[in-house]
Amino acid sequence: MACTIIVGGFFGDEGKGKIVAHIANRDRPSVISRGGVGPNAGHTVTIGTQTYGVRMVPSGFVFRDADLCIGTGVLVDPRVFLREVEMLGVQGRMYVDRRCGIIEEEHIQRDRGSEHLSKKIGSTGTGCGPANADRVLRLSRQAKDVPELSPFLADVPLKLNAAMDAGENVLLEGTQGFGISLYFGTYPFVTSKDTSASQIAADNGVGPTRIDDVIVVYKAYPTRVGEGPFSTEMSRERSHEMGIEEFGTVTHRPRRVGVWDGGMARYSAMVNGCTQAAITGIDRVDPACAGATEYSKLSRKARDFLAQAEEDIGAPITLISTGPDISHIIDRRDEI
Ligand code: IMP
Ligand code: MG
Repeated sequence: MACTIIVGGFFGDEGKGKIVAHIANRDRPSVISRGGVGPNAGHTVTIGTQTYGVRMVPSGFVFRDADLCIGTGVLVDPRVFLREVEMLGVQGRMYVDRRCGIIEEEHIQRDRGSEHLSKKIGSTGTGCGPANADRVLRLSRQAKDVPELSPFLADVPLKLNAAMDAGENVLLEGTQGFGISLYFGTYPFVTSKDTSASQIAADNGVGPTRIDDVIVVYKAYPTRVGEGPFSTEMSRERSHEMGIEEFGTVTHRPRRVGVWDGGMARYSAMVNGCTQAAITGIDRVDPACAGATEYSKLSRKARDFLAQAEEDIGAPITLISTGPDISHIIDRRDEI
């Protein structure tokens, strides 16, 4: 691989953070850069007894030899960013594009104070919608205008393209999911930007001809936080019966849970230009598969599920997550 994009195929929270962290450790990219909206996203990475919920720093931080970037298209909340950099100790290898849009305290107030955004849409209240609106109106500050960000400023497109020119691997990390894309999702119950692979490339200043792989991450039992249509949603009683209970990383709201949606999986694979798929939560299809690291150890039930999912998606499923830990994964990328 040279340049790989990772995006969510359902409504977000598919487990992209864990997949990115695994790929980063395995493929040793020299640069890992985040696209997507901003700190409305929360990615969870579990290593042993430690669980990290990151909102601004790329989930690939676990691979210590990589430089970490926030792409030009992404919104930065300097308070959230600086807190995370400190917590994760990534000073010295963390970069923010000079042109990133800035989330001000006032954007957060507007997001939370708006009946339309906070109640009707069920926004995360992190200021992203109002900040993107101001950016489009050309009223925003940029990262270069914030003194506290000056140690981190860079030209992220230059950094990424130079790494690719030198034959190094780079990883572009998407956020949110296909179903909440401003363009392709369940408008108006969507986030404030497109979330597809093309957008993640654009966020980072990487042209479409330079992308080698698009890995779309799906969850065996998709979830949705916030309002909006969810055609395969199950009742809360049913999901509790199955032992599935999840809460948002950013908002701590309970996530709505549904069953596999083959039609949506196929459509999002199409728009994303999916070359490979990852599936998380296989241990929910069959608890006997929890923690498996080899395909041969999966049960018949899990394999049947994967065969159907692969047919729906129309691309090979090369990564299968069998539990929350970064080590609970089956990686079949070498087999295709
Ligand atoms: P906003 O992006 O905060 O404006 O929220 C708009 C909608 O997108 C709401 O339904 C949020 O719950 C949803 N949303 C935004 N970011 C994420 C995410 O990272 N994961 C899941 N849902 C998200
Ligand atoms: Mg999340």
